Amino acid sequence: MTENMIARPVILETVAGARSALSGRNDVVLVPTMGALHAGHVALVERALELGQSVVVSIFVNPLQFGPTEDLDVYPRHLDEDIDKLHALGVPFVFAPSVEEMYPSGTVQTKISAGSVGGMYEGRSRPGLFDGALTVVAKLLNIMHPSTVVFGQKDAQQVFLVRRMIGDLNIPVAVEVVDTVRDENGLALSSRNSFLDGRELHAARALSQALEAASSSADGGIDAVLAAAQGALMGEPLVQLDYLKVVNPDTFLPSDDGARGPAVVLIAARVGNTRLIDNERIVLAG
Ligand code: PAF
Repeated sequence: MTENMIARPVILETVAGARSALSGRNDVVLVPTMGALHAGHVALVERALELGQSVVVSIFVNPLQFGPTEDLDVYPRHLDEDIDKLHALGVPFVFAPSVEEMYPSGTVQTKISAGSVGGMYEGRSRPGLFDGALTVVAKLLNIMHPSTVVFGQKDAQQVFLVRRMIGDLNIPVAVEVVDTVRDENGLALSSRNSFLDGRELHAARALSQALEAASSSADGGIDAVLAAAQGALMGEPLVQLDYLKVVNPDTFLPSDDGARGPAVVLIAARVGNTRLIDNERIVLAG
């Protein structure tokens, strides 16, 4: 089928409109995004389309998850282009509310707490990030009642916290996680990559190279993993490491020295003015 023959997505801008368009459907699959869609989002949408007919992609740059000095004002917004991409993919519904529609009373008084893990790693560097992200995800789930919600493994800590919220609050939705999509140099795709200039793009490869080095050293245990990753970052002065951690995938707490079995290596770094994150699942031996 050509793009001309696929119906354009129905654009839902209000909570009431979304509820009414989706009511009675039991195959709603939600892909929450902040827009500026790239091939990583496309992979989420393609998986969603395999899982159900009534795919809704939400596009909402959620102010609640940005700190006062963060990039909310300059965060890339390309709604028309995003809708064209979703049209080409055959997505039937786009939920693109305004800030006033999502937060009609302005200051939000009721928020989800992401708990202590929400204050670690990304949450330590970006206070309030996960309370804000979980709050908007809970609102989206309450508005659209999807049977499945799709997230990317790139935001591993967010996936952990969303799963825990869904369990703790008994929200009836399945979580589907799609692998990270990378460019030809291994860089994990992110809407923020558009902020990188040529030198920074080149330097940013060091994050995935560090994760590859970590993964290749997993047989040697945590110390070997950390040393290998740090070694891969050393030759790249444009990359300022924020954190490099090995965590237990079940608790997201730092893995104990001498831990064996599945673990996740988390990395975050600033490349120029842009903050990037990535992660890799490994199996520790040693
Ligand atoms: O991962 C994101 O893009 C955001 O945190 C999300 C889940 C869309 C909530 O605003």
